[in-house]
Amino acid sequence: MDGIFGKPLVTQEEMRARIRELGRQITADYAQKDLIMIGILKGAYAFYADLARAVRLPLKVDFLVVSSYAGKAKSSGKIKVLTELTEDIAGRDVLLVEDIVDSGSTVQHLRKTLEARKPKSIKVCALLSKPSRRKVDVAVDYVGFKIPNKFVVGYGLDYQQKYRNLPYLAVLDKVDEEGEPV
Ligand code: IMP
Ligand code: MG
Repeated sequence: MDGIFGKPLVTQEEMRARIRELGRQITADYAQKDLIMIGILKGAYAFYADLARAVRLPLKVDFLVVSSYAGKAKSSGKIKVLTELTEDIAGRDVLLVEDIVDSGSTVQHLRKTLEARKPKSIKVCALLSKPSRRKVDVAVDYVGFKIPNKFVVGYGLDYQQKYRNLPYLAVLDKVDEEGEPV
């Protein structure tokens, strides 16, 4: 699997160091709060597991399975939330944990949906952000790495459901002018 990718865009060591920093920051920011971390699956699974263990607070964990791409590389703009939360978030401090913010529509949609459940606060933590691809203006409170407009895989991110288990972030080179992998 490693042979098909070039030099990592973000190495395993760089990931570890940055996630430790994010963990420290979130620990300080939520010290007196009632934190529930909601991971957006599948993409956030690897980042989530590392981040949650870098936060030294008695937080609660929950997840939503969301599909927005239907196997395509580009966002279809249609976000489907496939599961329900198991925890009540009313009055709690919610931190949404995402793999990557691209157009911003997934995060915008989830923020809106979760607001209706009256949490005390909602913030977003994304491992990656592609600012040049943003279509909707949405607040991302914590960002691991800002990356250029390249299609990336690994560390939870997939291409057609593969490469999520790659332990570093790699660029999928073969993309057409639309940014679609070929
Ligand atoms: P948005 O709704 O356009 O912000 O897209 C967010 C979702 O698109 C992420 O949760 C990813 O699943 C997917 N995505 C965006 N860019 C990439 C990429 O470079 N590699 C893999 N998945 C991506
Ligand atoms: Mg995906």
